[in-house]
Amino acid sequence: MAILVLGGAGYIGSHTVDQLVEQANDVIVVDNLSTGHIQAVNPQAKFYQGDIRDKTFMNSVFDKEKDIEVVVHFASFSIVPESMLDPLKYFDNNIGGMITLLEVMHQHQVLKMVFSSTAATYGEPKRVPIEEADLKIPTNPYGQSKLGMENIIKWCDEAYGIKFVALRYFNVAGAKVDGSIGEDHRNETHLVPIILQVASGKRDKLQIFGGDYATEDGTCVRDYVHVLDLAKAHILAIQYLNENHASTVFNLGSSTGFSNMEILKAARKVTGKAIPAEVVERRAGDPAVLIADSKKARNILGWQPQYDDIEEIIQTAWQWQQTHPNGYVDDELTIE
Ligand code: UFG
Repeated sequence: MAILVLGGAGYIGSHTVDQLVEQANDVIVVDNLSTGHIQAVNPQAKFYQGDIRDKTFMNSVFDKEKDIEVVVHFASFSIVPESMLDPLKYFDNNIGGMITLLEVMHQHQVLKMVFSSTAATYGEPKRVPIEEADLKIPTNPYGQSKLGMENIIKWCDEAYGIKFVALRYFNVAGAKVDGSIGEDHRNETHLVPIILQVASGKRDKLQIFGGDYATEDGTCVRDYVHVLDLAKAHILAIQYLNENHASTVFNLGSSTGFSNMEILKAARKVTGKAIPAEVVERRAGDPAVLIADSKKARNILGWQPQYDDIEEIIQTAWQWQQTHPNGYVDDELTIE
């Protein structure tokens, strides 16, 4: 059995590829490298550069790689503020990409997919922690595009028997503990890496978006999960699909909320740096509080996050930041 990983050069994709390879799986990666990095891909995986919206290219990959049984799909845009400014980019890549992928999978009778969904599908929750069946009214186009992807694949399960596990991630952070792979977005927008860029002197100060939310300290609250724990959940989801002829959805979070201010304080402690910060206007599209109820993943998948301490999560991201101050740019290319 081969596992095809789409978007395997990205942040979460590369950590998942790495674990899949370590567990002796036959792994094929497709990535257009628009935001991913070839250096992030474990060299034992076979790599194809191309876009999932390119049907000819995708057909050629499935034609060549006859052993593909499962697709793990990370190849999406995922930046909330960018989606507010350019919604069509998100619908084109995320929903358009999903449609092409499903057409090609159907044609080649590859009938299992694990894919990245998001807490952003819920929008502003009516209650926390959020359960999978709770109301979903996204507050940004990114969340809407992911909800659309979930809905599209549901009907393809019905019609073509394509079974899926959708994993709704909450806020991912951290890096592989040996510091060899980590988070490298060229225009970074995420809280933890931005805070650490301030800590390392690459930025002057942190801007905290919004201090007037209805939360304890007025800043948004998020649920942080380590990238290695997320990667592990994908492997469990593949096992689930191999053992059960059924589709389902899981939240993946720690079930603990931290405000942006608390994250800043934890980062100050981990790094020992002052990390200057100021509270500014809210950022459009941000829900106030997102906290997962992950009981379903724990009970059904047997998912047990190893990194349940926020300082430890930040520590691994800090290790990556210090050893790779410019991300992957200084690394040697390992795949041609
Ligand atoms: N934030 C700041 N300053 C910054 C960057 C972020 O205050 O410089 C705040 C945001 O406004 C938000 C919080 O930090 O309140 C977290 O923001 P991120 O950009 O780090 O993450 P998001 O919550 O917007 O989105 C992330 C992923 C999405 C996913 C979502 C689920 O990027 O793909 O978590 O909760 F859908």
